[in-house]
Amino acid sequence: MTSIVQNQWYVAAYGREVGRDLFSRTICGESILFWRTEAGEVTAMSDRCVHRRFPLSQAPSHLVGDTVVCGYHGFTYGADGGCVAVPGQTRVPRTARLKSYPVLEQDSFVWVFIGDAATADATQIPRAPWLDQEGYATVSGMEPLAARASLLVDNLMDLSHETYLHGGYIGTPEVANTPITTEVDDEAGVVYVSRHMDDADCPPFYARSTGIEGRIVRWQDIEFHPPCLYLLHSRVAPLGVLPNPDGTDPGGFHVEVVYAITPETESSTHDFWAVARDFALDDEGVSDFLRESNRTVVLQDVVALDVLENVLTGEPDGYQELSINIDTGGLAARRIIARLAAEGRGETAVVPARTPAVTR
Ligand code: FES
Ligand SMILES: [Fe+2]
Repeated sequence: MTSIVQNQWYVAAYGREVGRDLFSRTICGESILFWRTEAGEVTAMSDRCVHRRFPLSQAPSHLVGDTVVCGYHGFTYGADGGCVAVPGQTRVPRTARLKSYPVLEQDSFVWVFIGDAATADATQIPRAPWLDQEGYATVSGMEPLAARASLLVDNLMDLSHETYLHGGYIGTPEVANTPITTEVDDEAGVVYVSRHMDDADCPPFYARSTGIEGRIVRWQDIEFHPPCLYLLHSRVAPLGVLPNPDGTDPGGFHVEVVYAITPETESSTHDFWAVARDFALDDEGVSDFLRESNRTVVLQDVVALDVLENVLTGEPDGYQELSINIDTGGLAARRIIARLAAEGRGETAVVPARTPAVTR
């Protein structure tokens, strides 16, 4: 039985990755072929020819107009996955059809629905509007992770690790030293974790991008939409500069850090990351710096989580963890993911109604 949550939307790619070349990516254990029709619509279908399972992303498979021709014996499929021609006979078997996936391009991402397509509801896809919104400049990428997705969820829900794993980039002592508040909206299935540092060191990531010198106000407000979309609303400002009572915030620098956590298999993950800022919009130097810095930080996590995956794989099931206050967000996320997983299996969730207690 798969541990991957079914009947959910996942980020499969950036829109820029999908064009008139055949593009394949494994999402939740399924090899999926993506391409754009001549009208520019993204399609998503199985990357395995129904004839002998030759990958349709593999040359000499190719597109002809809005059809894809298998490079092995020429089975030809339309944009809906239906087979429209086979070699050597005029009759196309009725069952000759690729599995096709509900797909939606939104906020620069290509989302696919994994599970029972009849239950797909695109209005359920959480939003990350900054990624292609006027008033923001965005850098983004994706790093492959040889670790299960739940390890990345744990990692992102507890940013106290920035102090230790990302010192010199985004970590400063105040991150680990400042307590968090955690809130869970069970109905909407969203976990919020906030850490507001009102007098903190300014790490290079923000010092060099904003130009602030000296200590800062630094707020981290996480909003996680399990299983896939993680938003970190980050605000930095010179010491003492707070938003106005009416919510306007001309003195603050805002960075929306977005991660999409998409299982590739049970034990590997696509780690999509994006950093959208509302300042220095036309400054390519700032874009280059943030792209390089964030990628470095993501790769620091990748190295650590790959090691952790190896350790966990080599140890017997049921190992003991010890959780403390910093883990409340991660534990809440696990609880919601367990509920979604049970729902995805068609079960009524039998998971604890409350977040497991932490050791104080
Ligand atoms: S494997 Fe695709 S046509 Fe034979
Ligand atoms: Fe990290």
